[in-house]
Amino acid sequence: MPEIVRMSTEELAGFRQRLQTEYDAFRAQGLRLDMTRGKPAPEQLDLATALLGSPGNDWRAADGSDVRNYFGDLRGLPETRAIFADMLGVPVERILIGGNSSLALMHDSIVYALLHGVPGGRGPWSQQGEIAFLCPVPGYDRHFGLCEGYGIRMIPVPLTGRGPDMAVVERLVAQDASIKGIWCVPKYSNPTGEIYAPEVVERLAAMRAAAPDFRIFWDNAYAAHHLTATRHEVANIAQACARAGHPDRVFIFASTSKVTFAGSGLALFAASRNNLDWFMTHMGRRTIGADKVNQLRHARLLRDGAGLLAHMEQHRALLAPKFAAVQQVLQARLGGTGLATWTKPEGGYFVSLDVQDGLAKRVVQLATQAGIAMVPAGRTFPYGQDPRDRNIRLAPSFPSVEEVRQAVEGIALSVLLAGTEAAEQQRAA
Ligand SMILES: Cc1ncc(COP(=O)(O)O)c(C=O)c1O
Repeated sequence: MPEIVRMSTEELAGFRQRLQTEYDAFRAQGLRLDMTRGKPAPEQLDLATALLGSPGNDWRAADGSDVRNYFGDLRGLPETRAIFADMLGVPVERILIGGNSSLALMHDSIVYALLHGVPGGRGPWSQQGEIAFLCPVPGYDRHFGLCEGYGIRMIPVPLTGRGPDMAVVERLVAQDASIKGIWCVPKYSNPTGEIYAPEVVERLAAMRAAAPDFRIFWDNAYAAHHLTATRHEVANIAQACARAGHPDRVFIFASTSKVTFAGSGLALFAASRNNLDWFMTHMGRRTIGADKVNQLRHARLLRDGAGLLAHMEQHRALLAPKFAAVQQVLQARLGGTGLATWTKPEGGYFVSLDVQDGLAKRVVQLATQAGIAMVPAGRTFPYGQDPRDRNIRLAPSFPSVEEVRQAVEGIALSVLLAGTEAAEQQRAA
């Protein structure tokens, strides 16, 4: 495919005409394809079907307690928490299982902080004037929605492909005491797929913070979600914070939403002893405990850390061909055009597509009109505003491989059409 900018005006007009014909034919198929949310496909959910018949008549936890009854430890069953100790990089004593959604735990952490403050702080965040969070971009829309919902100002920070731009983070956090937190998805980030480099983890842990109660919200949602044979590791943030003399700096979150059942799995919180005690004080007022029956089911299905990894291998076998299809089609249709760049993630659930500045909304509009459901352009940025209007998140997990191929064909066609439209307009101007 030639670069659009190198085409003569006649070549460009002919090219656009051919694209329009192809796009119209694509649209006329009346396809209904969904590339919106990162949902597991039914075959992935089938891997955990055994949960539905569990625990059956054997409802005793490892310590003999009856999981049908209240359980004494707010953190949940030790045998289930132990499964995730390696993945979280935190000893089992400092891991809590809290319900079915890690987003809910992030929400609760923010609300507890707003109402009561956090350990080492100077009281409730809500009584300290306007507060702010750093938001590495592009990022996860629901993190941004949480901040927006509670009036927390969002400050975008660019991602570099190896984590946030630490020079920017360090400067802002050191000088502005109203900055109370930063969102981090350290492995196979949503949507860029990037993996935080060891020096980024070290610098996050060690940097000087003007706010004594600054927190890293470390959302390790894709910790075990590899797409290649390499199980990438991220440096241990809890240990790095402790070494740097900031043991309470990080809240770690994860869940089994993309391990077992989405929204019906287990959500995890891990942190320092101080932070965990703080969290449990407030959580203990809200509930006597999370669902231990589900915790026992998960212990029976996954067994231990090795069992978790083996389970994730089966997910990989189902997901990798879909991600390969995305790469093949994007490369075949857009490679060499100069109209787009995209990530090649080695894990997680997303491909991040950057089109030419100012064209993302138009691309999404064209794709949507052609029957491909897409998240609105801009969603990967705070307040839904991508200042360059260029980022588009692709989520290939749910559709079949063939549907993914078709959808990406349609999206690539939309990128080509939008790009040639813009090139013609520019030349006419
Ligand atoms: C980065 C990230 N965190 C959290 C979640 C939601 O997790 P949960 O189902 O545990 O609330 C998602 C879901 O897409 C996600 O991408």
